[in-house]
Amino acid sequence: NTLSKIQGLPAELLLHIFSHLNPLDLSQCSMVCTRWAGLARDPSVWKHLYPSRWAKGNWQFGASVHLPEDIDMESLEQDNDVYVVVDEDADFDESASSAIESDASNASVASYRAECIRREARMLVAMAKYLIPHVGDGVETIILSNSKGVTNGLVYKLLIQCPNLQYLNLSETKISDIAFKGLGKNGVGSKLRHLDLSGCVNITDTTLQRLASIRQPLQTIPDNQMMDTSNYAKPDYQHGVNDKNGRPLNVDPMVSNRDQGCCSRRHNETQHDTDIVNRRQQGSCDGGCHGNNSVSHSQRLSMDTAPRTKSRHDGRHDRSSYHGTGEYEHTDGGNLSRRLQFLSLSGCYRITDVGLGLLSQGGGWPNLAHLDLSGCLNVSGAGLSLLADICPTLNHETFYYCDNIEEGPYADTASGCQNLQCGNRVCCRLGE
Ligand code: FES
Repeated sequence: NTLSKIQGLPAELLLHIFSHLNPLDLSQCSMVCTRWAGLARDPSVWKHLYPSRWAKGNWQFGASVHLPEDIDMESLEQDNDVYVVVDEDADFDESASSAIESDASNASVASYRAECIRREARMLVAMAKYLIPHVGDGVETIILSNSKGVTNGLVYKLLIQCPNLQYLNLSETKISDIAFKGLGKNGVGSKLRHLDLSGCVNITDTTLQRLASIRQPLQTIPDNQMMDTSNYAKPDYQHGVNDKNGRPLNVDPMVSNRDQGCCSRRHNETQHDTDIVNRRQQGSCDGGCHGNNSVSHSQRLSMDTAPRTKSRHDGRHDRSSYHGTGEYEHTDGGNLSRRLQFLSLSGCYRITDVGLGLLSQGGGWPNLAHLDLSGCLNVSGAGLSLLADICPTLNHETFYYCDNIEEGPYADTASGCQNLQCGNRVCCRLGE
């Protein structure tokens, strides 16, 4: 009798109830009856997708159903180790039995992780096949950071089938340019505000060209006219690989200069030392150019987050709309295309000035406030300036690029590389 009363509730009320359920509950509700199955697949209840989290058994949708004002992205993305159980009372003695138990434990953890990857891959395939075609219109957030199961084909389908996608995090995945093949076609990607490709080392200039095509949804670039970057000279930088003398294999000229005891900024020694002193006094220089490693990692990160000097007040950049906490304001003045406000290409070392030039085309990025190009070893100050010039709302505090780039834009106010001592992202000063 109670069930029949619940089933008789108006659709609006049921949808409101469903909006508070997690994906697992929704899938169970969909098995009650045909009506509920239809309501459980309503786009309005599938705004935020966290497949990696769900594959680990954490079935939360997220803290908010609205982007971007009400959502705390940082807390949402801290899900990688949620289900790793740590026994703090474990007795790690030196006995052989403990070693065996430790091996067994390691094997267990490895097995658990492998199972997570398989489960995630299965879930992603099922979502792309059975869920996204029904709910794609309602999806605003997809977080796939650190996903081992995500593929280029899946991202391609997600972008095509989720026209209202605003927040996409693919950081630390193996996706490449093919995943973004659909960008710009029929408005695909035109609602994107936040795109995080940090650590995606397979991304090249082709993706930047496709990003630039977002502005003209009806004038897409045919595939056969896309720039072929496959023949680009691959940088000799090989992350974590050493030469025969045990030194990091990195023949980047900036590194050669650094090995000689000075960063490669094109100013004389006196000016250089003055800059360093000034920056130290302002608490933002790590002294890394001279091999001073006395600053702790946490201190260094906090320093690097701060601008090199006090921001200039020229009026132009005070219109920044990104507050560094996932909160945004609308500053596009009615320009509904190119809403991108956050772009991170940190560690995408294959990107070159050609890509930055392509990204600069099409009228600029009126809302871009956060731009992270840390670890992009193959871009120069000229390429960065080209891009920075067409980003009127770029916030210097959230504009990151390699410390060793010569004559970079806003050298006194932009923030430095974020990958120093990061360990898992490309940085020309790795190991200092
Ligand atoms: Fe040059 Fe990190 S990439 S300092």
